[in-house]
Amino acid sequence: MKVAVLGANGQLGSDICAAFRRNGDEVCALTHSHVELTSASSVEGALSAHNPDFIVNTAARHHLEKCEADPIAAFTANAIGAKHVAEWTKRAGATVAYVSTNYVFDGGKCSPYLEADIASPLNAYGITKLAGEHFTAAICPKYFVLRVSAIYGLQPCRAKGGLNFVELMLKLSRERDQLRVVDDEFVTPTPTVQIAEQLVVLSRASAYGLYHGTAEGACSWYEFAREIFRATGTEVHLEKANPGEFPAKVPRPKYSVLENSALKAAHMNVFTDWREGLQNYLNARVQAAVAAS
Ligand SMILES: NC(=O)c1ccc[n+]([C@@H]2O[C@H](COP(=O)([O-])OP(=O)(O)OC[C@H]3O[C@@H](n4cnc5c(N)ncnc54)[C@H](OP(=O)(O)O)[C@@H]3O)[C@@H](O)[C@H]2O)c1
Repeated sequence: MKVAVLGANGQLGSDICAAFRRNGDEVCALTHSHVELTSASSVEGALSAHNPDFIVNTAARHHLEKCEADPIAAFTANAIGAKHVAEWTKRAGATVAYVSTNYVFDGGKCSPYLEADIASPLNAYGITKLAGEHFTAAICPKYFVLRVSAIYGLQPCRAKGGLNFVELMLKLSRERDQLRVVDDEFVTPTPTVQIAEQLVVLSRASAYGLYHGTAEGACSWYEFAREIFRATGTEVHLEKANPGEFPAKVPRPKYSVLENSALKAAHMNVFTDWREGLQNYLNARVQAAVAAS
């Protein structure tokens, strides 16, 4: 199978390229320098040059504050960009997978969100990604939308300035004696390698549609930090931040845990418990450091 990955040098895109290559697929790794999502002719040119069977669209503007400050730019990349990709994919008779987010929900449910739950985003980023989902689904008959959550991988996130949450906590633990982390926002931290493996599985399926794709279980950011320090044997004085101590500049859901109910119903779910995913990431991180030395 020939697979095009948009956002190929991103945190998630780089692991997706590696997963499809491990699977024996031919990968066309398309970065922002190869394709501008906001331009229909750029998308047309880049995809027609390779004529892929399966397109994974991870490319997005997803820095929350920047999306809020410039919602038109965010909408043009995340929604109109998805439209351009879906239009090419439909014409080619290919399949598209659009990577979306837990931030399409408002957090009011307080139990894991199912695919059937009504999306009601709180911020411009979530609104533009939900619009991208709708363009993808409405235009292209052979589509997957995969909503992911709180992702982290070995490759730095380009939009968020480099450090994922794990690396940020470990860095701060070296710089400070005491850390305070919010305990009133619940997510499921999900390693990018597992999302990449899930997309390989989906690429072999014809059960098109909307899927939630996160690790199993849930935690607050404080609980995630506590597990990072436990698993790495890091000694640091960690405390729960008081409610409102770190006010968010952009509204975000207090609870955005997803349940992979559609993946499980289709017997396609590859995700493990979030703690196991973290341990695998920490092991891979050590191996990468050894290989680099
Ligand atoms: N990070 C999270 O916690 C999280 C959570 C839920 C969902 N997601 C979703 O997961 C996906 C991947 O996130 P990530 O962390 O891998 O992001 P990332 O590292 O920032 O990578 C995003 C990629 O998109 C490219 N891009 C941005 N605007 C573009 C445009 N107009 N045309 C073409 N390419 C463009 C970027 O290129 P340049 O950097 O060169 O501009 C970069 O290669 C995104 O769709 C995001 O919405 C992320």
